[in-house]
Amino acid sequence: MIVAIAHSRAQLGISAPAVRIETHLTNGLPAFNLVGLPETAVRESKERVRSAILSSGFEFPSRRITVNLAPGDLPKEGTRYDLAIALGILAASGQIPHAPLGDFEAVAELALTGELRGVRGVMPAARACQQASRSLIVAPDNVLEATRVRGVQVLPAATLSALCGHLKQTQRLAWAAPAPPYAHSNLAGQPDLAEVRGQYFAKRALEIAAAGGHNILLYGPPGTGKTMLATRLAHLLAPLDDEQAYEVAAIHSIAGLHRAPGQWLVPPFRAPHHTSSAPALVGGGSTPRPGEASLAHHGILFLDELPEFGRRVLDVLREPLEIGRVTIARAAGTVDFPARFQLVAAMNPCPCGYHGDPGASCRCTPEQVRHYHSRVSGPLLDRIDIQIEVARERNWLSSTVTAQLESSASVRARALAARARQWARQGKINHHLSVSELSLHAPLDRPTEKFLAHAFEHYRLNPRTYHRLMKLARTIADVADCPAIAQDHLSEALALRRLEVAPAWPAGMKH
Ligand SMILES: Nc1ncnc2c1ncn2[C@@H]1O[C@H](COP(=O)(O)OP(=O)(O)OP(=O)(O)O)[C@@H](O)[C@H]1O
Ligand SMILES: [Mg+2]
Ligand SMILES: [Zn+2]
Repeated sequence: MIVAIAHSRAQLGISAPAVRIETHLTNGLPAFNLVGLPETAVRESKERVRSAILSSGFEFPSRRITVNLAPGDLPKEGTRYDLAIALGILAASGQIPHAPLGDFEAVAELALTGELRGVRGVMPAARACQQASRSLIVAPDNVLEATRVRGVQVLPAATLSALCGHLKQTQRLAWAAPAPPYAHSNLAGQPDLAEVRGQYFAKRALEIAAAGGHNILLYGPPGTGKTMLATRLAHLLAPLDDEQAYEVAAIHSIAGLHRAPGQWLVPPFRAPHHTSSAPALVGGGSTPRPGEASLAHHGILFLDELPEFGRRVLDVLREPLEIGRVTIARAAGTVDFPARFQLVAAMNPCPCGYHGDPGASCRCTPEQVRHYHSRVSGPLLDRIDIQIEVARERNWLSSTVTAQLESSASVRARALAARARQWARQGKINHHLSVSELSLHAPLDRPTEKFLAHAFEHYRLNPRTYHRLMKLARTIADVADCPAIAQDHLSEALALRRLEVAPAWPAGMKH
């Protein structure tokens, strides 16, 4: 019996567990058995491997071939093992040398012609391969992604026959050049806050959201700049560090999306349409793919026209909002994807858009308004720290108002300084503080505490609001570089909870 071992990688969430491909050749009736893969994947893979071997000028051994993909209990998707299976068969039948296979891992699909084809999720495979001190063989269209992982040796091969020539040392393939250093994110040419006229209160709210990582809801009539403001938040965030950039790119790689090298350090900004399904938002499928919540990891998930999303669709966001990841259940166990995003939502106050607008009359019935708000559930709103009105401003076009608007770059500088203070004090941003950490890092003196108690009574605030307010006040103090929270900070925090403190707002929005 002859055995050959080749190496490949599975994909599970954003990890890439090792898969050993053991090929046995024995005498007996010619047969080709593939074990350790799901049924349909096996059938298709056998067909591709056989054709690719034949069309590359090799012989398909007419012996009893058994290929085992180990470990058997690991859920596997078919196409990415094609190349490793073909190499195993060629080595076991003595058509290529066996020894070099120990130094490589192969992750590529084979076309019937013997060409290599790219697969999704090469980036996690490249990192795992580098940690295992092996080199990675990929199709040419996966090279850019694979070389983004620092220190990995990547061997691109266009065809099975060229690759085999390289392994037999009859021809030389060129190793891929390492990717150039990551470009730092550049604000030039990006949407800038300076383009938004007026709306100082909303801009200040964006700055606080950026500084403390708080979720934010912008609420108001049509055409006031809500969408404009929301799309500018991404550029107020810090560039990603290397590890974050890797995670974001790995998730995109698994989803079959490619992050352009210039985008590498830019926090992702995802704006799914309101017709999106729950799986589109949080991920799913028989071979689980990450959803928008994961594609927005370390960046922003923007839900424009919030009540237009299905309520069930919005409810699935509660898990990632709470714990920063999503768990997808499937037949062979569960798969986790990270999903630590900052939520930005925008909505009108009613279906026609003008409810509560003094300058326009709303045509909706109270029942329509109530129904519109009920589409956004209390538990979701409860996870949105900042909820502000973006009202119509009469004079925003006038020249005096447009003079000297602050740029995103300068607002970002303040937000980043405030973030640095949070990291130095508590090792995380304020949005992620637990209740006990909050009492440690955001203590109040007696008069400030009395002020807060009074505000609670006056506005009849929900006790759950307490910690949200304290987090916001902590961030506002950090932006002002004040070690202690003062009454001013709390007052501003209260103003950022407009849905609770402004009685004129529709009752349906309270919770
Ligand atoms: N404050 C502003 N400064 C500059 N332009 C503005 C401002 N507000 C609105 N505009 C202009 O109006 C357009 C619509 O703004 P935007 O889409 O942000 O409004 P919106 O509040 O999201 O409205 P809707 O509720 O209908 O979605 C913008 O493309 C811009 O041209
Ligand atoms: Mg809009
Ligand atoms: Zn209306």
